[in-house]
Amino acid sequence: MEDNLLASASSTDRGSWNSKLGFILAAAGSAVGLGNIWGFPTQVADNGGAAFLIIYLLTSFLIGFPVMVAEITIGRKTGKNPVGAFKALSSSKFFPLVGLWGVICGVMILSFYTVIAGWAFGYAFEEIFYTIGLDQAAVWIQDVGNGSKNALVAAVFMLATIKIITGGVSEGIERATKTMMPLLIGVLLIMIIYVLFQPGSSEGIVAYLLPDFSLIDSDLIFSAMGQSFFSLSLGMGALITYGSYLSKKENIPQAAAFVTLADVGIAFLAGLLIIPAMYLAQSNGVEIFKDSGQLIDSTTLVFTVLPALFHSMGTIGVIFGVTFFLLLSIAALTSTISLLEVPVSYAIDEYNVTRKKSAWTIGLGILAISMVIAFRPDFIDYFVIVFNNIGLPAGGFLISVFIAYIWKTDNALEEMSHGFAGIKESLFAKVWPVFIKYICPLAILYTLIQMIGIF
Ligand code: TRP
Repeated sequence: MEDNLLASASSTDRGSWNSKLGFILAAAGSAVGLGNIWGFPTQVADNGGAAFLIIYLLTSFLIGFPVMVAEITIGRKTGKNPVGAFKALSSSKFFPLVGLWGVICGVMILSFYTVIAGWAFGYAFEEIFYTIGLDQAAVWIQDVGNGSKNALVAAVFMLATIKIITGGVSEGIERATKTMMPLLIGVLLIMIIYVLFQPGSSEGIVAYLLPDFSLIDSDLIFSAMGQSFFSLSLGMGALITYGSYLSKKENIPQAAAFVTLADVGIAFLAGLLIIPAMYLAQSNGVEIFKDSGQLIDSTTLVFTVLPALFHSMGTIGVIFGVTFFLLLSIAALTSTISLLEVPVSYAIDEYNVTRKKSAWTIGLGILAISMVIAFRPDFIDYFVIVFNNIGLPAGGFLISVFIAYIWKTDNALEEMSHGFAGIKESLFAKVWPVFIKYICPLAILYTLIQMIGIF
């Protein structure tokens, strides 16, 4: 009885997931996206290869996973958007502002995310145009510096996102992910095997897998922490929102573990493909690194290296290229959906507007910011620093503090016991509170304070 009440809480425009798999698929769909295939390999190349990989694995499993459990639990307990959720669980005036900060981070991240997603989408067409002899169209659509083209494709992407969001929760979001994820893994594996057989790729494997620990510094840790939060969709309440549609029958820690493993696994595979491909491209005369060891242009790098790789494969490369970029576009779409869902559910819950009106108004508002970024992609770097690398971990810090010291971990564990019968006696119940009370907040705080030294 209580289950149903919560699942359909507060507004008729709220929904709930269709099936057990629904939440996991949607949360994994939210997590897997450009962060894995664009963000992660770029950060690895920019931050010392395997040293970054190791810190990223640590921040994802030791910090990201406990925070993910925290967010989903807050969402399911309250059945609310991030602002409403903090209001429901405490009388604090401050924490609803944390929810609001999350909504703002989501809006800003989505504004640049659609532009990059547009690049990925454009490349699927580039491969097609090339093959059918439309060379000029191919050159046009792959030009990441063409502002009006960027704006057009970003608009298409945003409209698709809005359309799906207005379709409601379960129908729109669950379906796409189910086929996309295994296919993406399949294509990645085949491409990895292809690249590993190319002469010149071994240097990349070494850079990716053999750590030089002397490269670990506060800058690297700051970037890895931000990347983990971004890739796992944490720190701004996306998973509070998704958790609010979750039934009491689900085992939250288990679902979170699956999402974390899937996300980190796909990022790892993307690195195994793209880092060697970068070295391959470099040995073929494409300029990747400056003399100083810095990347030439980190924002667009992946979109230079991958098409070059597909082109080098001949006709079969077209098939792989189109498939890969279409899959990446779907992966990006299941992520933009989760980003837009946060402000939309906030407006639905707190201002009582309809889902349709909320999605169109907010979506088009965000698109207006995307238009600026379409013409100035160099702004993306600043957005990443402020909203990903600072905003999301800061949100994660405050969410941990909220559970640990205001709502209390025992109450959270009590909520988790629905769907996880023996939780009280489990190892999880002993370890997770230690992470949420001490390890997560202190590690994030340390990283953010170190960061002040970087600038
Ligand atoms: N995780 C997604 C990616 O890796 C991006 C994303 C979707 C996100 N929803 C989010 C990032 C919420 C932060 C917060 O591409």
